[in-house]
Amino acid sequence: MSAPIRLGINIDHVATLRNARGGAHPDPLKAAKLAVEAGANNITAHLREDRRHIRDDDIARLIAELECPLNLEMAATTEMQAIALKTKPHAACLVPEKREERTTEGGLDVVAQHNMLAPVVAELVDAGIRVSLFIAAERRQIEAASRLRSPAIEIHVGAWCDALTEGRMDDAEAEWRCIRDGARLAQELGLEVHAGHGLNYETAERIAALPEIVELNIGHFIVGEAVFDGLGESVRRMREAMDKGRAASVSGRAP
Ligand code: PXP
Repeated sequence: MSAPIRLGINIDHVATLRNARGGAHPDPLKAAKLAVEAGANNITAHLREDRRHIRDDDIARLIAELECPLNLEMAATTEMQAIALKTKPHAACLVPEKREERTTEGGLDVVAQHNMLAPVVAELVDAGIRVSLFIAAERRQIEAASRLRSPAIEIHVGAWCDALTEGRMDDAEAEWRCIRDGARLAQELGLEVHAGHGLNYETAERIAALPEIVELNIGHFIVGEAVFDGLGESVRRMREAMDKGRAASVSGRAP
């Protein structure tokens, strides 16, 4: 029987909206509390080098006031490592970060960056922070992640989501096979498997049917849907979609 699947709501774009006017509204902490009330298990926030959305004081307030785990997305830089060690979030997801990109465009290259990442992962894990590495579902990346002491990976599913949205069905099918096989391999290697990036109700339902995946992190689509339906309703609908997908997996109806 598959374990339940956790929903992590990424509140970065509530902060994007707040920062567009430079004031305090809308407050990402208020959004985080509402998301938890509506069924989120964790809150995720990415503290970027340029502080374009989440800021240091947001992280401090989230840690002080949230009753659920906080997953801090961060680049593996000296600055972010120091912040994580000081603030001690429940979890840290290490992501690649390029200054000019609009969003996190690809996964970490754990193969090429093994020597740089190893001490960062070790220090965070030793501090009791559950580390995950945001990577593509490629065999060599997953195997390299398992050689680090990271307890978890998060599979970057953006390429699959983009292929579906753009109607490139052959590409979508190929990406799906990579995600499915990568999730299986990661679990066999003892890694906890998460997924995220670009998910909507339909893709979250489908991903939730993979029994190896225990957590999804979802942001942009939820905040976008909140404009139409309200944040509580969009989180509830996402929870329902994921539970439906997971139930299909339990009953053997998964792809
Ligand atoms: N997971 C990680 C590691 C990410 O970097 C992001 C984007 O910040 C997400 C999940 C959420 O992606 P989206 O906003 O497209 O749902």
